[in-house]
Amino acid sequence: MNIRRARAEDLPGMQACNLRNLPENYAMKYFMSPILSYIIVGYILAKMEEETAEGEPPHGHVTSISVLRSYRRLGIAKKLMLRSQESMATIYRASHVSLHVRKSNRAALSLYRDTLGFEVRDIEQKYYADGEDAYAMRLTLEHD
Ligand code: ACO
Repeated sequence: MNIRRARAEDLPGMQACNLRNLPENYAMKYFMSPILSYIIVGYILAKMEEETAEGEPPHGHVTSISVLRSYRRLGIAKKLMLRSQESMATIYRASHVSLHVRKSNRAALSLYRDTLGFEVRDIEQKYYADGEDAYAMRLTLEHD
């Protein structure tokens, strides 16, 4: 399975994958992140937070990840997450990576917490448009 950075011509396919898999959808400009990886059957949309409090180190954020249903449980999301974490740590010197996930999303929660070692930092009430709460999660990144 080939994982590579997205090119401009990939963006419509990525947006289609997002529309099929998640209720949270994004305008095309959000798919133009500089550290976004893409494969034919899934994507990760990750960014560096531009605004950090004074003196705080930079950190990354995963906005959205999804893999088409028939390609799940093959380790693709894990690979996409690890690749993006590596870029955040080595290129951008990010101290940690954050994300939000629905409380009911067992598959994603298991990926983040059990496979990748994220911790739940907070519960954000009614974070999603339909009223569901989110876990705010964080992973501290290792530096050489
Ligand atoms: N049930 C339980 N654990 C799971 C499941 C599941 N359905 N799916 C993944 N995991 C855990 C397992 O520990 C798995 O390791 P294992 O297969 O060795 O047991 C580990 O995560 C790695 O799984 P991957 O194969 O890398 O995950 P996959 O490529 O299937 O993608 C994803 C997981 C992205 C959550 C997929 O199910 C999906 O696209 N879901 C719909 C979209 C979605 O919910 N995205 C996340 C929203 S939150 C956000 O974007 C920040």
